[in-house]
Amino acid sequence: MADFDSVTRAVIPAAGLGTRFLPATKATPKELLPIVDKPVIQYVVEEAVSAGLFDVLMVTGRTKRPLEDHFDRAIEVEGALEAKGDDQRLTAVRESTDLATMHYVRQGDALGLGHAVLCAKRHVGDHPFAVLLGDDMIDERDHLLERMIEVRARYGGSVVALMEVPTEQVSMYGVVSMEATAEDDVVRITDMVEKPPIEEAPSNWIIIGRYVLDPTVFEVLEKTPPGRGGEIQLTDALRELADRDMSGGGPVHGVLFKGRRYDTGNKLDYLRTVVRFAAERPDLAPEFVPWLREFLGNR
Ligand code: UTP
Repeated sequence: MADFDSVTRAVIPAAGLGTRFLPATKATPKELLPIVDKPVIQYVVEEAVSAGLFDVLMVTGRTKRPLEDHFDRAIEVEGALEAKGDDQRLTAVRESTDLATMHYVRQGDALGLGHAVLCAKRHVGDHPFAVLLGDDMIDERDHLLERMIEVRARYGGSVVALMEVPTEQVSMYGVVSMEATAEDDVVRITDMVEKPPIEEAPSNWIIIGRYVLDPTVFEVLEKTPPGRGGEIQLTDALRELADRDMSGGGPVHGVLFKGRRYDTGNKLDYLRTVVRFAAERPDLAPEFVPWLREFLGNR
């Protein structure tokens, strides 16, 4: 196996406007929407930590300060719980504080995901790093990020996560062209395009919100003009890296992911995620599942 610099830093872009969730996201970050009783962003940070990434840089923006508070102490609540002797809730409140070493940078204007990643340049420096989108959850039973880090260690360059979707959905995502490698779940990316019309989509494999990136991506992003939707697109920068060899910061590989992903930035997926998690929770399922069955039976 090749010996590349190991990945220890995670960057979590969470500065998007979250317009699909208005008015809930007018003053509250969508990344704090709860999946039952834990906000999406905490699951995302937990995923980074369980892949060994304890240094977390969150890219935030206006109206996003509560994200920082969530990973800080909550002295008043903690004091009240302590006085009541409510150890269980005290542990729950403190869990997010001790998770990782958290850093924050602000993206002044939401100029796109590529621009959000570029805001991490100073913190990340000349090291490979992972990017986890703050509204995209991967089930903790599926070890996608660990696999992507392994793939980067083997092939160098950058690694994206890919999922197959029905044709009618391709225009909502970045879509790739790819060629096989000797490993069943790894492909080499030959091209990619952001939100193509259905007839121009090169495949049904879309890029989902996990990346392991070579630091060369920063140089490329600095020169990447606004693309689709007037935003600086990470996909455009990766497309350029996909054409390069290792000496130029390429290539780009993809891990074909067949596990469970929850795109909580979209309302239907958010609802599915809440219901699924509630139905799997031992403290809620015994009452919730029979209620759900009855509710659906009556519709
Ligand atoms: P989305 O495409 O979901 O955009 O961003 P959005 O603005 O957050 O949400 P909608 O479409 O208006 O409802 C994907 C990820 O990239 C981050 C978002 O926070 C989200 O985690 N992002 C996007 C930024 O950090 N900055 C940006 O300028 C754009």
